[in-house]
Amino acid sequence: PFIDPVPSLPALYSSIGFSIVAFLASVFLVPALGPAFVKANLKGRDLLKTYQTPIPESMGLVCASIYIILLILFIPFAFSNPISQQAYLKRSHEGLIVKEFPHYQLSVYLSSLLSLLIATILGFLDDVFDIRWRHKVPIPIIASIPVLMVYYAERGNTTIVVPLPFRFIFGTLVNLGPLYYVYMSLLSTFATNSINILAGINGSEVSQALIISISVIINDLLYLPWPVDFRIPLHLLGNKAELGFGGVWSAGMSYGSRELVERHLFSLYFMLPLVAVCVGFMYHNWYPARVFPGDTLCYVTGMAFAVVGIQAHFSKTLLLFFIPQIFNFLLSCPQLFGLVPCPRHRVPRFDSNTNLLHPSKTMFERGPPSKISALVLHTLSTLGLTELTIHPNTGNILEANNLTILNFFLLRLGPMNEKSLVKVLILSQVAGSLFAFFVRYGLAGLVYDG
Ligand code: UD1
Ligand code: MG
Repeated sequence: PFIDPVPSLPALYSSIGFSIVAFLASVFLVPALGPAFVKANLKGRDLLKTYQTPIPESMGLVCASIYIILLILFIPFAFSNPISQQAYLKRSHEGLIVKEFPHYQLSVYLSSLLSLLIATILGFLDDVFDIRWRHKVPIPIIASIPVLMVYYAERGNTTIVVPLPFRFIFGTLVNLGPLYYVYMSLLSTFATNSINILAGINGSEVSQALIISISVIINDLLYLPWPVDFRIPLHLLGNKAELGFGGVWSAGMSYGSRELVERHLFSLYFMLPLVAVCVGFMYHNWYPARVFPGDTLCYVTGMAFAVVGIQAHFSKTLLLFFIPQIFNFLLSCPQLFGLVPCPRHRVPRFDSNTNLLHPSKTMFERGPPSKISALVLHTLSTLGLTELTIHPNTGNILEANNLTILNFFLLRLGPMNEKSLVKVLILSQVAGSLFAFFVRYGLAGLVYDG
């Protein structure tokens, strides 16, 4: 039996303190280090502006460094509870009460840091060398192995609960076994790359990371032992089992859900400073951008989400926060997998006379598309997802809008300026998260019996 029913809440306050430091550090260090990046040739031209001023690129490295350094400095705080207090008392073989250090949680923390470091290195190398896709995709999978091993060590869950309508086929629980590990490792490569391909307008990368991390934090807060049980309305909506109805809370009373609280605390320790560096960075990356995040920021934030989703056991809820990214990825598939030509940049086209953005096009310069490509493009065009230019005589496709969510917004909502487009993107991300919470805590009650 555990003596201390509310785990490590003082550490949560330290984490908030560290996050304030992270925010201040990114607000001040990002502009201060910009010139050094330009000098090291880490610079890019803003494609959607008239001016040619070199903008410091891969400034996400500054954010990643602040983030990782603070997470390392935070280690003693995260584990201060078991060191200083009477928590983790266990009865030894001789019947004595001994303090036991939570080595398992330390390995969760350290393996997560390792994955973040690999993501940072990969992102930075990508900024410097423009790594090819076939190399970029497997590296996050390798980076997720330490995290998966720790998950395995805890005999992590590999079963999924089957939704009610499918139970007559599969039964209540399906054990995916090794397939579940494959799914989790794909999650890491998806999270890192999907943010990177939804990019190219000022503020896009960092705002995605910001909204997702805030969503994860809100989800974590639902699992903390609050003195007042304001979550009752949520329970009424459904899925009592997961929320631990009668479980974790009520003035810090804990009945075996300590693990659940600890997992979400771990997630908070990783998400709070991430929000902080993102807010600090966004200030400088907002239209008109003075700095670019580079692939480094996309990779390190994506890996942070994958890591907390896996370690705190909410990878399916996490995926629900990636709805715009999933849409953008699926829409991009014909270009990513070579059915449709994919130019180096798929960012919207900038009209300098009106200052508006229009959907950008990909051209079939090497002759008409194959039958299958034409079929895919006609289907997408019928669904209103892209626009085609057809040769009046031959009927061949000459051009198609680049298949990205940003071009899709411009196609459906009409041309707009860059600042409005990033706001549309942010709105879609927020709407996605609201939908995610509804599905997770509302709908889940209908399709699962809680
Ligand atoms: C991904 C996209 C690519 C998109 C690019 C924009 C895919 C397969 N790849 O490539 O289509 O054009 O991101 O980031 O979808 N830039 C701006 N404004 C911004 C941010 C970036 O003009 O707000 C430009 C700058 O020139 C910057 C460059 O984009 O130097 C960075 O591109 P990079 O991150 O290297 O592109 P990828 O991630 O390879
Ligand atoms: Mg990029």
